[in-house]
Amino acid sequence: MLLDSRLSAVADFVRDGSRFADVGTDHAYLPVYLLLNGKIEYAVCSDLRKGPLKNAEETVKKYGLESKVDLRLSDGLNGYRGGEVNEIAVAGMGGLLISRFIESTPWLKNQDIHLILQPMTHAENLRKTLYLNGFFIEKEAAVKENGKLYIIISAYFNGVTQNVTTADCVIGEIRKNSDALSREYLESLLKKYTVKCEMLKNAKKDFIETESIVKEIEKCLKQ
Ligand SMILES: C[S@@+](CC[C@H](N)C(=O)[O-])C[C@H]1O[C@@H](n2cnc3c(N)ncnc32)[C@H](O)[C@@H]1O
Repeated sequence: MLLDSRLSAVADFVRDGSRFADVGTDHAYLPVYLLLNGKIEYAVCSDLRKGPLKNAEETVKKYGLESKVDLRLSDGLNGYRGGEVNEIAVAGMGGLLISRFIESTPWLKNQDIHLILQPMTHAENLRKTLYLNGFFIEKEAAVKENGKLYIIISAYFNGVTQNVTTADCVIGEIRKNSDALSREYLESLLKKYTVKCEMLKNAKKDFIETESIVKEIEKCLKQ
């Protein structure tokens, strides 16, 4: 079984032997791949809807993994018990929705839990939620699939609320990377915030914060 580069990058972040959960699993490709490759021994796969969960069931059956997968209907992490999993992937959903999952699940505030998050939108809001709720972002990766760039965030709880700027939330830990796709991600951010800054200036609106984001991205690119 092969994963596309987006899910493959999520899989690379998973710790060997962890008690794995895939939230919003749809076809359960990620957990099935991890099981087939011996990276994990057991997975809980959940989805909000019956249709995607049926897709997951079909994939699990196809590979004869019924005894190793627990399929569950669940809104975010509502259907999980604290402590039953310690490695949680949430991929392919909006950053605001993922933020809601984090804010409404107190048992995630545990240093043993590893979050692997792949927001489709609003990565900056998701980073802010993590920083403000005592999580730290260990690393991030930029990946490309069908010409589109995706971000993957690896985070742990350490209880320290971080005072961050909007620029910090926009750039995240991508600033630490030196690969070509991370650079491309920063260049796309630079374009987006430069346009936004120009529009604010033309409309005679406050552009100070947006300009500081542009400067910070330029600094990262130079470094
Ligand atoms: C685009 S698919 C992503 C599937 C897979 N995780 C991936 O990255 O390829 C999004 C999935 O999230 C599910 N979903 C949406 N809202 C959800 C929620 N509140 N709780 C759990 N799953 C949800 C959808 O039903 C859908 O199956």
